[in-house]
Amino acid sequence: MAYILPGPKTSERLHAGKTLFRHGLNYDEDAVASAARGFIPPAQIILDRAEGDYVWDLDGNRYIDFQNGWATNPLGNCHPEVLQSVQDAHQRYGYHWEHPLRFELAEKLADIMPGKQLPRFTFEVSGTEAVESAVHTALCYKKRRYIISFTSSFHGAGMGTKVISGYTSEHNLYMEPWGAAVIKAPYPYSQNIPADMTPEQYVNYCLWYLESHIPEYIVPAENIAAILVEPGLAEGGNWIPSVDFIQGIRRICNENDWLMIVDEVLTGLGRTGKMWGIDHYDVIPDMMVVGKNLSGGVEPCAGVAARDEILGDNPRASAGSTFAGTPAGCAAGLKTLEIFKRDNVVEQAAELAEIAQSRMADWPKKYAIVSDVRCLGLLMGISFTHPDKTQFGDDYDDSYVARTVRNEMLVNGVWAICDTEPTVRMYPALNMDKQIFVEALDIIEAAIQTVEKGAPLVGDYPAIPSGVTGF
Ligand SMILES: Cc1ncc(COP(=O)(O)O)c(C=O)c1O
Repeated sequence: MAYILPGPKTSERLHAGKTLFRHGLNYDEDAVASAARGFIPPAQIILDRAEGDYVWDLDGNRYIDFQNGWATNPLGNCHPEVLQSVQDAHQRYGYHWEHPLRFELAEKLADIMPGKQLPRFTFEVSGTEAVESAVHTALCYKKRRYIISFTSSFHGAGMGTKVISGYTSEHNLYMEPWGAAVIKAPYPYSQNIPADMTPEQYVNYCLWYLESHIPEYIVPAENIAAILVEPGLAEGGNWIPSVDFIQGIRRICNENDWLMIVDEVLTGLGRTGKMWGIDHYDVIPDMMVVGKNLSGGVEPCAGVAARDEILGDNPRASAGSTFAGTPAGCAAGLKTLEIFKRDNVVEQAAELAEIAQSRMADWPKKYAIVSDVRCLGLLMGISFTHPDKTQFGDDYDDSYVARTVRNEMLVNGVWAICDTEPTVRMYPALNMDKQIFVEALDIIEAAIQTVEKGAPLVGDYPAIPSGVTGF
Protein backbone atom coordinates (compact mmCIF):
# COMPACT_ATOMS: atom_id res chain seq x y z
CA MET A 1 0.00 0.00 0.00
CA ALA A 2 1.44 3.32 -1.05
CA TYR A 3 1.66 6.05 1.58
CA ILE A 4 -0.56 9.08 1.21
CA LEU A 5 1.79 11.99 1.71
CA PRO A 6 1.94 14.13 3.64
CA GLY A 7 0.35 12.56 6.68
CA PRO A 8 -1.39 14.96 9.04
CA LYS A 9 1.51 15.46 11.45
CA THR A 10 3.98 16.12 8.66
CA SER A 11 1.53 18.48 7.04
CA GLU A 12 1.18 20.44 10.26
CA ARG A 13 4.95 20.91 10.50
CA LEU A 14 5.22 21.93 6.88
CA HIS A 15 2.60 24.58 7.52
CA ALA A 16 4.53 25.85 10.52
CA GLY A 17 7.57 26.27 8.29
CA LYS A 18 5.74 28.81 6.17
CA THR A 19 6.24 31.51 8.75
CA LEU A 20 9.64 30.35 9.94
CA PHE A 21 11.89 29.61 7.03
CA ARG A 22 13.35 30.99 3.87
CA HIS A 23 10.88 30.89 0.96
CA GLY A 24 8.00 30.63 3.45
CA LEU A 25 6.15 33.48 1.82
CA ASN A 26 6.18 31.65 -1.52
CA TYR A 27 5.22 28.34 -0.01
CA ASP A 28 1.65 27.97 -1.22
CA GLU A 29 2.39 29.41 -4.61
CA ASP A 30 5.40 27.13 -5.08
CA ALA A 31 3.41 24.10 -3.94
CA VAL A 32 0.74 24.74 -6.53
CA ALA A 33 3.38 25.28 -9.20
CA SER A 34 5.18 22.07 -8.24
CA ALA A 35 1.96 20.13 -8.30
CA ALA A 36 1.25 21.45 -11.77
CA ARG A 37 4.71 20.26 -12.81
CA GLY A 38 4.02 16.77 -11.54
CA PHE A 39 5.62 17.07 -8.15
CA ILE A 40 3.24 15.55 -5.62
CA PRO A 41 3.00 18.17 -2.90
CA PRO A 42 4.78 17.92 -0.66
CA ALA A 43 7.52 15.46 -1.48
CA GLN A 44 9.27 16.53 1.68
CA ILE A 45 9.13 14.31 4.69
CA ILE A 46 9.91 15.33 8.23
CA LEU A 47 11.60 12.71 10.33
CA ASP A 48 10.45 11.25 13.58
CA ARG A 49 13.52 9.07 13.88
CA ALA A 50 16.33 7.36 12.01
CA GLU A 51 17.97 4.02 12.66
CA GLY A 52 20.23 1.84 10.54
CA ASP A 53 18.95 1.57 6.99
CA TYR A 54 15.60 3.22 7.73
CA VAL A 55 13.99 6.53 8.60
CA TRP A 56 10.44 7.12 9.85
CA ASP A 57 8.40 10.25 9.23
CA LEU A 58 6.23 12.03 11.78
CA ASP A 59 3.26 9.98 10.68
CA GLY A 60 5.03 6.68 11.25
CA ASN A 61 5.74 5.87 7.60
CA ARG A 62 8.99 3.96 7.18
CA TYR A 63 11.42 4.55 4.31
CA ILE A 64 14.59 2.82 3.15
CA ASP A 65 17.16 5.57 3.33
CA PHE A 66 18.79 6.26 -0.05
CA GLN A 67 18.98 9.97 0.83
CA ASN A 68 21.51 9.36 3.59
CA GLY A 69 21.58 12.81 5.18
CA TRP A 70 22.77 14.14 1.81
CA ALA A 71 25.40 11.39 1.65
CA THR A 72 26.79 11.74 5.14
CA ASN A 73 25.93 8.41 6.80
CA PRO A 74 28.47 5.85 5.62
CA LEU A 75 27.48 3.39 8.36
CA GLY A 76 23.73 3.91 8.31
CA ASN A 77 21.72 6.08 10.65
CA CYS A 78 22.81 6.62 14.23
CA HIS A 79 25.47 3.93 14.31
CA PRO A 80 25.64 3.03 18.02
CA GLU A 81 29.44 2.88 18.22
CA VAL A 82 29.83 6.27 16.54
CA LEU A 83 27.18 7.74 18.85
CA GLN A 84 28.99 6.35 21.85
CA SER A 85 32.36 7.76 20.74
CA VAL A 86 30.77 11.17 20.22
CA GLN A 87 29.13 11.08 23.62
CA ASP A 88 32.41 10.08 25.27
CA ALA A 89 34.21 12.97 23.57
CA HIS A 90 31.52 15.42 24.67
CA GLN A 91 31.71 14.19 28.20
CA ARG A 92 35.46 14.28 28.36
CA TYR A 93 36.29 17.51 26.53
CA GLY A 94 33.12 19.52 25.97
CA TYR A 95 34.40 21.92 23.40
CA HIS A 96 38.04 22.89 23.33
CA TRP A 97 40.36 23.30 20.40
CA GLU A 98 43.33 21.82 22.27
CA HIS A 99 42.31 18.17 22.42
CA PRO A 100 44.36 15.14 21.30
CA LEU A 101 41.80 13.56 18.97
CA ARG A 102 42.63 16.01 16.17
CA PHE A 103 46.21 14.67 16.15
CA GLU A 104 45.01 11.06 16.11
CA LEU A 105 42.56 11.66 13.26
CA ALA A 106 45.10 13.62 11.19
CA GLU A 107 47.53 10.71 11.59
CA LYS A 108 44.93 8.16 10.51
CA LEU A 109 43.94 10.26 7.51
CA ALA A 110 47.54 10.73 6.39
CA ASP A 111 47.81 6.96 6.38
CA ILE A 112 44.93 6.43 3.94
CA MET A 113 45.56 9.35 1.58
CA PRO A 114 46.30 8.39 -2.06
CA GLY A 115 49.86 7.11 -2.26
CA LYS A 116 50.27 8.40 1.32
CA GLN A 117 51.39 11.60 -0.35
CA LEU A 118 49.10 14.12 1.34
CA PRO A 119 50.45 13.95 4.88
CA ARG A 120 49.23 17.30 6.25
CA PHE A 121 45.70 18.12 7.28
CA THR A 122 43.82 21.19 8.35
CA PHE A 123 40.41 20.87 9.99
CA GLU A 124 37.24 22.74 9.06
CA VAL A 125 33.62 22.39 10.13
CA SER A 126 31.89 21.88 6.79
CA GLY A 127 32.72 20.91 3.24
CA THR A 128 31.98 24.49 2.24
CA GLU A 129 34.60 25.88 4.59
CA ALA A 130 37.06 23.20 3.62
CA VAL A 131 36.80 24.01 -0.09
CA GLU A 132 37.23 27.72 0.62
CA SER A 133 40.23 26.92 2.80
CA ALA A 134 41.75 24.71 0.07
CA VAL A 135 41.37 27.40 -2.56
CA HIS A 136 42.80 30.07 -0.28
CA THR A 137 45.73 27.80 0.56
CA ALA A 138 46.38 27.14 -3.13
CA LEU A 139 46.31 30.84 -4.06
CA CYS A 140 48.70 31.71 -1.23
CA TYR A 141 51.01 28.80 -1.97
CA LYS A 142 51.27 29.59 -5.65
CA LYS A 143 51.13 33.38 -5.11
CA ARG A 144 48.59 33.55 -7.96
CA ARG A 145 45.07 34.89 -8.22
CA TYR A 146 42.98 32.54 -10.37
CA ILE A 147 41.56 29.08 -10.09
CA ILE A 148 39.70 26.90 -12.58
CA SER A 149 36.51 25.12 -11.58
CA PHE A 150 33.82 23.41 -13.63
CA THR A 151 30.30 23.99 -14.83
CA SER A 152 27.67 21.91 -12.96
CA SER A 153 30.06 21.42 -10.06
CA PHE A 154 28.95 21.97 -6.48
CA HIS A 155 31.44 22.96 -3.81
CA GLY A 156 29.25 24.50 -1.14
CA ALA A 157 27.03 27.39 -0.24
CA GLY A 158 29.35 29.98 1.27
CA MET A 159 30.07 33.23 -0.51
CA GLY A 160 33.29 31.82 -1.98
CA THR A 161 31.95 28.39 -2.85
CA LYS A 162 28.82 29.83 -4.42
CA VAL A 163 30.89 31.60 -7.02
CA ILE A 164 33.35 28.72 -7.34
CA SER A 165 30.53 26.22 -7.97
CA GLY A 166 29.32 25.79 -11.51
CA TYR A 167 25.83 27.12 -10.99
CA THR A 168 23.92 28.66 -13.83
CA SER A 169 24.38 32.38 -14.38
CA GLU A 170 20.95 32.93 -12.88
CA HIS A 171 21.98 31.31 -9.60
CA ASN A 172 24.87 33.73 -9.26
CA LEU A 173 22.81 36.81 -10.02
CA TYR A 174 24.03 39.82 -7.98
CA MET A 175 27.25 38.01 -7.13
CA GLU A 176 28.84 38.06 -10.57
CA PRO A 177 31.81 40.29 -9.63
CA TRP A 178 32.68 38.05 -6.68
CA GLY A 179 33.51 35.29 -9.11
CA ALA A 180 36.03 37.33 -11.06
CA ALA A 181 38.95 35.11 -10.11
CA VAL A 182 37.19 31.85 -10.97
CA ILE A 183 37.45 30.49 -14.51
CA LYS A 184 34.68 28.05 -15.33
CA ALA A 185 35.50 25.24 -17.71
CA PRO A 186 33.08 22.67 -19.13
CA TYR A 187 32.83 19.32 -17.32
CA PRO A 188 32.05 16.50 -19.74
CA TYR A 189 29.06 14.34 -19.02
CA SER A 190 26.66 12.72 -21.37
CA GLN A 191 23.77 15.15 -21.08
CA ASN A 192 25.75 18.26 -21.93
CA ILE A 193 27.57 16.95 -25.00
CA PRO A 194 27.20 19.36 -27.90
CA ALA A 195 25.38 17.88 -30.88
CA ASP A 196 27.42 15.60 -33.10
CA MET A 197 30.27 15.10 -30.66
CA THR A 198 31.10 11.65 -29.33
CA PRO A 199 31.79 11.42 -25.58
CA GLU A 200 35.50 10.95 -26.35
CA GLN A 201 35.57 14.02 -28.59
CA TYR A 202 33.87 16.05 -25.89
CA VAL A 203 36.42 15.00 -23.28
CA ASN A 204 39.16 16.05 -25.69
CA TYR A 205 37.40 19.37 -26.23
CA CYS A 206 37.17 19.95 -22.46
CA LEU A 207 40.86 19.15 -22.02
CA TRP A 208 41.74 21.44 -24.95
CA TYR A 209 39.70 24.17 -23.26
CA LEU A 210 41.78 23.79 -20.09
CA GLU A 211 45.19 23.59 -21.65
CA SER A 212 44.85 25.85 -24.68
CA HIS A 213 41.79 28.04 -24.60
CA ILE A 214 42.05 29.32 -21.03
CA PRO A 215 45.76 30.23 -21.06
CA GLU A 216 45.53 31.70 -24.53
CA TYR A 217 42.33 33.72 -24.27
CA ILE A 218 41.30 34.09 -20.62
CA VAL A 219 44.16 34.14 -18.11
CA PRO A 220 47.88 33.38 -18.67
CA ALA A 221 48.94 30.04 -17.22
CA GLU A 222 51.35 31.65 -14.78
CA ASN A 223 48.47 33.49 -13.07
CA ILE A 224 46.49 30.30 -12.40
CA ALA A 225 47.01 28.49 -9.08
CA ALA A 226 44.90 25.36 -9.38
CA ILE A 227 42.21 23.28 -10.98
CA LEU A 228 39.49 22.28 -8.52
CA VAL A 229 37.62 19.19 -9.65
CA GLU A 230 35.12 16.67 -8.30
CA PRO A 231 36.11 13.10 -9.26
CA GLY A 232 32.41 12.39 -9.73
CA LEU A 233 30.07 15.30 -10.36
CA ALA A 234 28.08 14.68 -7.22
CA GLU A 235 25.36 17.28 -6.65
CA GLY A 236 25.46 17.93 -10.38
CA GLY A 237 23.84 14.52 -10.94
CA ASN A 238 26.30 11.80 -9.85
CA TRP A 239 28.03 11.84 -13.22
CA ILE A 240 31.19 9.79 -13.45
CA PRO A 241 34.08 11.28 -15.37
CA SER A 242 36.21 9.25 -17.74
CA VAL A 243 39.73 8.16 -16.91
CA ASP A 244 40.99 10.27 -19.81
CA PHE A 245 39.41 13.40 -18.34
CA ILE A 246 40.78 13.03 -14.82
CA GLN A 247 44.21 11.85 -15.97
CA GLY A 248 44.19 14.67 -18.52
CA ILE A 249 43.67 17.20 -15.71
CA ARG A 250 46.62 15.74 -13.80
CA ARG A 251 48.82 15.99 -16.90
CA ILE A 252 47.73 19.58 -17.61
CA CYS A 253 48.36 20.60 -14.00
CA ASN A 254 51.85 19.08 -14.19
CA GLU A 255 52.65 20.75 -17.48
CA ASN A 256 51.44 24.18 -16.33
CA ASP A 257 52.63 24.12 -12.75
CA TRP A 258 49.06 24.26 -11.44
CA LEU A 259 47.87 22.42 -8.33
CA MET A 260 45.25 19.71 -8.72
CA ILE A 261 42.69 19.96 -5.92
CA VAL A 262 40.09 17.21 -5.74
CA ASP A 263 36.88 17.85 -3.87
CA GLU A 264 36.07 14.49 -2.27
CA VAL A 265 33.51 15.88 0.17
CA LEU A 266 30.88 13.61 -1.32
CA THR A 267 32.88 11.00 -3.24
CA GLY A 268 35.36 10.33 -0.43
CA LEU A 269 35.55 7.69 2.29
CA GLY A 270 34.13 4.73 0.46
CA ARG A 271 31.19 6.30 -1.36
CA THR A 272 32.51 5.13 -4.74
CA GLY A 273 33.49 1.63 -3.63
CA LYS A 274 37.11 2.69 -3.10
CA MET A 275 38.42 4.81 -0.26
CA TRP A 276 38.63 7.87 -2.53
CA GLY A 277 36.92 8.66 -5.79
CA ILE A 278 40.30 9.60 -7.24
CA ASP A 279 41.54 6.04 -6.57
CA HIS A 280 39.56 4.96 -9.65
CA TYR A 281 41.82 7.09 -11.83
CA ASP A 282 45.33 6.19 -10.74
CA VAL A 283 46.00 9.85 -10.04
CA ILE A 284 47.48 11.52 -6.98
CA PRO A 285 46.20 15.05 -6.44
CA ASP A 286 48.12 17.82 -4.69
CA MET A 287 45.29 18.61 -2.31
CA MET A 288 42.12 16.85 -1.27
CA VAL A 289 38.99 18.22 0.41
CA VAL A 290 37.06 15.84 2.67
CA GLY A 291 33.87 16.11 4.71
CA LYS A 292 30.44 14.44 4.90
CA ASN A 293 31.25 10.73 5.57
CA LEU A 294 34.01 11.72 7.98
CA SER A 295 31.20 12.74 10.34
CA GLY A 296 30.11 9.12 10.70
CA GLY A 297 26.65 10.52 10.01
CA VAL A 298 26.62 12.17 13.39
CA GLU A 299 28.97 15.07 14.00
CA PRO A 300 30.43 17.49 11.42
CA CYS A 301 34.07 17.00 10.57
CA ALA A 302 35.81 18.23 7.43
CA GLY A 303 39.15 19.48 6.23
CA VAL A 304 41.87 19.64 3.65
CA ALA A 305 44.77 17.25 3.11
CA ALA A 306 47.77 18.41 1.14
CA ARG A 307 51.29 17.70 0.09
CA ASP A 308 53.76 18.52 2.80
CA GLU A 309 55.05 21.83 1.48
CA ILE A 310 51.62 23.22 0.50
CA LEU A 311 50.27 23.22 4.04
CA GLY A 312 53.52 22.99 5.94
CA ASP A 313 55.25 26.04 4.57
CA ASN A 314 52.61 28.54 3.56
CA PRO A 315 52.59 31.40 6.04
CA ARG A 316 49.91 33.44 4.30
CA ALA A 317 47.32 30.67 4.25
CA SER A 318 45.06 30.66 7.26
CA ALA A 319 41.81 28.94 8.08
CA GLY A 320 39.90 27.20 10.80
CA SER A 321 36.78 28.56 12.44
CA THR A 322 36.07 28.12 16.16
CA PHE A 323 34.46 24.71 15.77
CA ALA A 324 36.89 23.27 13.22
CA GLY A 325 37.90 19.79 14.33
CA THR A 326 35.74 19.53 17.45
CA PRO A 327 36.51 16.69 19.86
CA ALA A 328 33.18 15.08 18.99
CA GLY A 329 33.71 15.48 15.22
CA CYS A 330 37.19 13.97 15.43
CA ALA A 331 35.87 11.14 17.63
CA ALA A 332 33.20 10.42 15.01
CA GLY A 333 35.85 10.41 12.27
CA LEU A 334 38.16 8.13 14.23
CA LYS A 335 35.42 5.65 15.06
CA THR A 336 34.20 5.67 11.48
CA LEU A 337 37.67 4.84 10.15
CA GLU A 338 38.06 2.12 12.77
CA ILE A 339 34.78 0.51 11.72
CA PHE A 340 35.68 0.89 8.03
CA LYS A 341 38.79 -1.20 8.64
CA ARG A 342 37.29 -3.72 11.02
CA ASP A 343 34.17 -4.41 8.93
CA ASN A 344 35.65 -3.96 5.44
CA VAL A 345 33.04 -1.29 4.81
CA VAL A 346 34.52 -0.08 1.52
CA GLU A 347 34.48 -3.64 0.18
CA GLN A 348 30.86 -3.98 1.32
CA ALA A 349 30.01 -0.86 -0.68
CA ALA A 350 31.72 -2.29 -3.76
CA GLU A 351 29.71 -5.51 -3.38
CA LEU A 352 26.41 -3.65 -3.14
CA ALA A 353 27.44 -1.60 -6.15
CA GLU A 354 27.91 -4.76 -8.20
CA ILE A 355 24.37 -5.84 -7.34
CA ALA A 356 23.06 -2.41 -8.36
CA GLN A 357 25.08 -2.31 -11.55
CA SER A 358 23.90 -5.67 -12.80
CA ARG A 359 20.30 -4.86 -11.85
CA MET A 360 20.23 -1.39 -13.40
CA ALA A 361 22.47 -1.83 -16.45
CA ASP A 362 19.69 -2.65 -18.90
CA TRP A 363 17.15 -0.11 -17.62
CA PRO A 364 17.90 2.40 -20.39
CA LYS A 365 17.09 -0.35 -22.94
CA LYS A 366 14.12 -1.68 -21.02
CA TYR A 367 12.45 1.62 -20.15
CA ALA A 368 11.90 4.45 -22.59
CA ILE A 369 11.89 7.04 -19.81
CA VAL A 370 15.34 6.03 -18.52
CA SER A 371 18.05 7.83 -20.45
CA ASP A 372 21.05 6.78 -18.40
CA VAL A 373 22.05 4.85 -15.29
CA ARG A 374 25.36 4.99 -13.50
CA CYS A 375 26.96 3.67 -10.35
CA LEU A 376 30.50 4.31 -9.29
CA GLY A 377 30.30 2.31 -6.12
CA LEU A 378 27.25 3.69 -4.34
CA LEU A 379 27.36 7.04 -6.11
CA MET A 380 24.22 6.15 -8.02
CA GLY A 381 22.21 8.13 -10.53
CA ILE A 382 19.33 7.48 -12.92
CA SER A 383 18.52 10.12 -15.53
CA PHE A 384 15.13 10.42 -17.13
CA THR A 385 13.50 11.70 -20.25
CA HIS A 386 10.18 11.22 -22.04
CA PRO A 387 9.83 9.54 -25.43
CA ASP A 388 7.02 11.89 -26.43
CA LYS A 389 7.78 15.28 -24.97
CA THR A 390 5.59 17.16 -27.44
CA GLN A 391 2.38 16.07 -25.71
CA PHE A 392 3.29 18.17 -22.68
CA GLY A 393 3.75 21.47 -24.46
CA ASP A 394 6.37 24.14 -23.82
CA ASP A 395 6.18 23.72 -20.08
CA TYR A 396 7.81 20.28 -20.21
CA ASP A 397 11.20 19.56 -18.70
CA ASP A 398 12.87 16.13 -18.25
CA SER A 399 13.20 16.84 -14.54
CA TYR A 400 9.41 16.36 -14.21
CA VAL A 401 9.81 12.69 -15.11
CA ALA A 402 12.62 12.31 -12.59
CA ARG A 403 10.57 13.98 -9.88
CA THR A 404 7.58 11.84 -10.61
CA VAL A 405 9.65 8.67 -10.32
CA ARG A 406 11.25 9.95 -7.13
CA ASN A 407 7.81 10.64 -5.69
CA GLU A 408 6.59 7.21 -6.72
CA MET A 409 9.62 5.75 -4.91
CA LEU A 410 8.85 7.84 -1.84
CA VAL A 411 5.22 6.85 -1.50
CA ASN A 412 6.35 3.23 -1.82
CA GLY A 413 8.99 3.53 0.86
CA VAL A 414 12.35 4.58 -0.66
CA TRP A 415 13.69 8.03 0.08
CA ALA A 416 16.09 9.44 -2.53
CA ILE A 417 17.03 12.84 -3.95
CA CYS A 418 15.86 14.75 -6.99
CA ASP A 419 16.72 18.45 -7.20
CA THR A 420 16.35 20.42 -10.37
CA GLU A 421 18.25 18.09 -12.64
CA PRO A 422 16.49 15.25 -14.52
CA THR A 423 18.16 12.72 -12.26
CA VAL A 424 17.28 10.71 -9.20
CA ARG A 425 20.36 10.53 -7.02
CA MET A 426 20.84 7.75 -4.49
CA TYR A 427 23.28 7.32 -1.63
CA PRO A 428 22.60 4.17 0.39
CA ALA A 429 24.73 3.53 3.45
CA LEU A 430 27.93 1.72 2.50
CA ASN A 431 27.08 -1.18 4.79
CA MET A 432 23.37 -1.42 3.98
CA ASP A 433 21.83 -4.82 4.57
CA LYS A 434 21.82 -6.67 1.21
CA GLN A 435 18.21 -7.72 1.45
CA ILE A 436 17.04 -4.21 2.21
CA PHE A 437 19.19 -2.89 -0.63
CA VAL A 438 17.61 -5.31 -3.10
CA GLU A 439 14.12 -4.48 -1.78
CA ALA A 440 14.85 -0.82 -2.49
CA LEU A 441 15.98 -1.65 -6.03
CA ASP A 442 12.68 -3.54 -6.51
CA ILE A 443 10.71 -0.49 -5.37
CA ILE A 444 12.75 1.79 -7.63
CA GLU A 445 12.19 -0.41 -10.67
CA ALA A 446 8.47 -0.66 -9.89
CA ALA A 447 8.31 3.15 -9.64
CA ILE A 448 9.93 3.45 -13.06
CA GLN A 449 7.42 0.96 -14.47
CA THR A 450 4.49 2.93 -13.02
CA VAL A 451 5.67 6.18 -14.56
CA GLU A 452 6.56 4.44 -17.83
CA LYS A 453 2.99 3.16 -18.00
CA GLY A 454 1.75 6.75 -17.99
CA ALA A 455 1.57 8.33 -14.55
CA PRO A 456 0.60 11.96 -15.10
CA LEU A 457 3.57 14.28 -15.37
CA VAL A 458 2.15 17.70 -15.99
CA GLY A 459 -1.12 19.38 -15.29
CA ASP A 460 -3.54 16.68 -14.37
CA TYR A 461 -2.49 15.73 -10.88
CA PRO A 462 -5.35 15.47 -8.44
CA ALA A 463 -6.13 18.76 -6.73
CA ILE A 464 -4.10 19.44 -3.63
CA PRO A 465 -6.22 18.46 -0.65
CA SER A 466 -7.34 21.59 1.12
CA GLY A 467 -5.05 22.61 3.93
CA VAL A 468 -2.21 20.54 2.55
CA THR A 469 0.50 22.49 0.88
CA GLY A 470 4.20 22.29 0.54
CA PHE A 471 6.67 21.12 -2.03
C1 LIG B 1 31.42 17.94 -3.69
C2 LIG B 1 30.95 18.81 -2.56
N1 LIG B 1 31.77 19.75 -2.06
C3 LIG B 1 31.41 20.53 -1.04
C4 LIG B 1 30.15 20.43 -0.48
C5 LIG B 1 29.76 21.32 0.65
O1 LIG B 1 29.79 20.62 1.83
P1 LIG B 1 28.93 21.09 3.09
O2 LIG B 1 27.50 21.03 2.68
O3 LIG B 1 29.31 20.15 4.19
O4 LIG B 1 29.33 22.49 3.41
C6 LIG B 1 29.27 19.48 -0.97
C7 LIG B 1 27.92 19.35 -0.40
O5 LIG B 1 27.05 18.72 -0.90
C8 LIG B 1 29.67 18.64 -2.04
O6 LIG B 1 28.86 17.72 -2.55
